[in-house]
Amino acid sequence: MMNEELSVSAAMEEARQACLALSGKKGRKLRSCVVTFGCQMNARDSEKLRGILEEAGFEDTESEEEADFVLYNTCTVRENADQHVYGRLGILTGLKKKNPDLIVGLCGCMMQEEHVVAKIRKSYPVVDLIFGTHNLFTFPELLARILRERKRVIELWEGTDRIVEHLPVKRKYAFKSGVNIMFGCNNFCSYCIVPYVRGRERSRDAEEILNEIRSLASDGVREVMLLGQNVNSYGRTIEGSITFPELLEKVSGIDGIERIRFMTSHPKDLSDDLIEVIARHENICRHVHLPVQSGSSRILEKMNRHYTAEQYLALTQRIRDAVPDVSLTTDIIVGFPGETEEDFEETLSLIRKVKFDSAFTFLYSKRSGTPAAKWEDQVPEQEAHRRFDRLLETVSETAKEACARFEGRVMDVLVEEENKEPGFVSGRISQNITVHFPGDTGLIGKIVPVRLNVCKGFYYFGEMVR
Ligand code: SAH
Ligand code: SF4
Ligand code: F3S
Repeated sequence: MMNEELSVSAAMEEARQACLALSGKKGRKLRSCVVTFGCQMNARDSEKLRGILEEAGFEDTESEEEADFVLYNTCTVRENADQHVYGRLGILTGLKKKNPDLIVGLCGCMMQEEHVVAKIRKSYPVVDLIFGTHNLFTFPELLARILRERKRVIELWEGTDRIVEHLPVKRKYAFKSGVNIMFGCNNFCSYCIVPYVRGRERSRDAEEILNEIRSLASDGVREVMLLGQNVNSYGRTIEGSITFPELLEKVSGIDGIERIRFMTSHPKDLSDDLIEVIARHENICRHVHLPVQSGSSRILEKMNRHYTAEQYLALTQRIRDAVPDVSLTTDIIVGFPGETEEDFEETLSLIRKVKFDSAFTFLYSKRSGTPAAKWEDQVPEQEAHRRFDRLLETVSETAKEACARFEGRVMDVLVEEENKEPGFVSGRISQNITVHFPGDTGLIGKIVPVRLNVCKGFYYFGEMVR
């Protein structure tokens, strides 16, 4: 065991004691509620936070009203993510008036910004505990402190070069799991706050990753999603390590893992080796999420993305040639500083050419501390909104057409959950498209053949075939 793991387990014991003492007083188990605001990596962190809380003796609840401890795992990638958290803190302030014993904690990306923490210190007395992305593994120690002392605890690190392995984890789904392969980001796209709040890129040791996946497989997991801000640069920061395609190939050989997904691929680093590995292995999903951000090479340069629209188009063509049934999805930003009507038209034209199965579309949001926030040629809000609406229209037209190409086919669906519609369940095909079909909850976690009868834009209605 490494030193850090030793100190984590000692702190865990203290948290357990503190939790036990309090639940003794209450005459029942303490309840915790962890809320995720961000991306898949944020969600994976939440599973670690829940794992720690469970080991400390807390019972998990989804209701903030019922909880003794509420922890918000925040995101700050766009302004509205921040606003959302402030709004919810207002509600918690009301809750705490009714239940003065309530403990409120904040962690995640927003907490790595000084101006945010200053504002919370000053204007949100409801918050008892703050920690950041770099010291998530110190949560057991901070938890013990807040449970015992009930005095505000704030602990933030500016950065870290460490990766702490073997934290407890409580998975949301029994049959699928995210797996971190790297942390942080070194790309500094000019609009993006992530490198500032998540720190420098660090890759996890390949053996640690493979062992984690082997143990997930023996615990019933059939689908893994390899997570990183730029998975294609995996391994670059560790000497003598392996590349992402090599890692992917090894994961694909693990018994019991029937589906492998990965997120996110940066177009500048997606190699032909990777395309070849996807093509060769059936259990690697036929889906590549490849954020393009803009269809204008001029804007892409200002965004510091290191590829042109032409290079992006050529790359998607190479992927389609090698993996014919592949589904391509993307992220697009409109209203980036200096974006002209012409640049925007180029984005629409790229969308029509690539025919994405779906696209996440975002209004550019100014993030203080990033280079683009200081530029003077910000696009007027009204104009950005107008472009956003046109973008949505084009995306839904082309996505509808693209998704419909599987209509009538029988495809394997991993069943994920019960549908709101009684008697129906929902799952995904390898291409990541959702399918709803009649079936019972006993199917959850199973992979079954389903005929895709009707395409409804982004999803299908189907029926199971026996
Ligand atoms: N690492 C991934 C993306 C992480 S953030 C990548 O490089 O592709 C997810 C998405 O949020 C980005 O792809 C981008 O489209 C969007 N985004 C990031 N910063 C933004 C900002 N300041 N305003 C609007 N959208 C932003
Ligand atoms: Fe942000 Fe760019 Fe890093 Fe993605 S690659 S997290 S968009 S800086
Ligand atoms: Fe948000 Fe942090 Fe993810 S800013 S998008 S939660 S890395």
